[in-house]
Amino acid sequence: MTESDFIPSAYLQKPTTGSVTWKSPSNIALVKYWGKKEHQIPANPSISFTLVDCATTTTLRYEKLAVIGDAFQFDLIFEGQPKASFKPKIETFFERIESYLPFLKEYHFTIETSNSFPHSSGIASSASGMSALALCLMSLEKSLKPEMSDTFFNQKASFLARLGSGSACRSIEGPLIQWGEHEETAGSSDLYGVAYPYEVHEVFKDFQDTILLVDKGEKQVSSSVGHNLMHDHPYAKNRFKQAHQHLTALQEVFKQGDLKRFIEIVESEALTLHAMMMTSLPYYILMKPNTLNIINSIWKYRKETESNICFTLDAGANVHVLYPKSEKHEVLGFIKKELAQYCQNQQYICDETGTGAKKL
Ligand code: DP6
Repeated sequence: MTESDFIPSAYLQKPTTGSVTWKSPSNIALVKYWGKKEHQIPANPSISFTLVDCATTTTLRYEKLAVIGDAFQFDLIFEGQPKASFKPKIETFFERIESYLPFLKEYHFTIETSNSFPHSSGIASSASGMSALALCLMSLEKSLKPEMSDTFFNQKASFLARLGSGSACRSIEGPLIQWGEHEETAGSSDLYGVAYPYEVHEVFKDFQDTILLVDKGEKQVSSSVGHNLMHDHPYAKNRFKQAHQHLTALQEVFKQGDLKRFIEIVESEALTLHAMMMTSLPYYILMKPNTLNIINSIWKYRKETESNICFTLDAGANVHVLYPKSEKHEVLGFIKKELAQYCQNQQYICDETGTGAKKL
């Protein structure tokens, strides 16, 4: 598939009014997307677990305009209130996707959106938010082209979501989604996420993710700025190469259920992501003292108990604790007893891998 495959032929007729709702989850990357080229093309391939409970629900109401103007017409309601500060991001998204959905300026949209996770919890909402909106727009397109296949629907939803936020393209389906061209993964693409196509051991099918809310404040450096700092970064070339190698190594890990090697790759990816931030110019640190306290406690617990617990990090201070479902009871006990003290207001969110977005 190329970009031009997502440009539609003329629509026969367009509905005048309607509404659609999608609930789309967040995802947690095991191999990280960090660095991008023009048009939201990733500098390296990545793979993630799709989550279930950390999700955005978006309703898109559409009404055909009597007079079509030059601007996109939409209102944005976030958790019941108009939210002007979100509009520029949506405006940019509409500009990027207009050639793939040429009807956008013919409608007035009301976008009502809310997150399942607490506001400003430091959990990135761009993946779930942009994928939910992309899916709503795809449902509208599907009503214009009812013959569209489910495969194409999902592929184009992922393609559009990517243009809103790179990691959003990994939130359409689940439980393991790969995005970015990787020589050893058949069907992989820079344009959209694909379901991981090879054998996956049972242990990875219901992996658990408990998100420890270490710092709920605004990030000092946004992901967009962080991605840009990978241009001219002294270690970028090797980092991109390493991501390819990690993806290749994970194929055997997923097949065999090799948790030891899984832990090694996932933790190395998290620390490399943050090492890239610390060695950017300007350099910066998003981890907090409690991020390190948690990492050290996890390492100590793992050594003492031989648990298969591990951690990963996003572009922030929060820690994602990953573990097999069979260890849920013990690990949750450990989190409650040892790790909750490092969280703001002792807050953490229990989530697990899931199958992707749902139409409500
Ligand atoms: C650290 O997808 O938020 O979470 O494409 O600029 O919207 P934009 O970036 P974004 O970057 C997320 C990066 C990451 C790693 C990952 O999810 O792979």
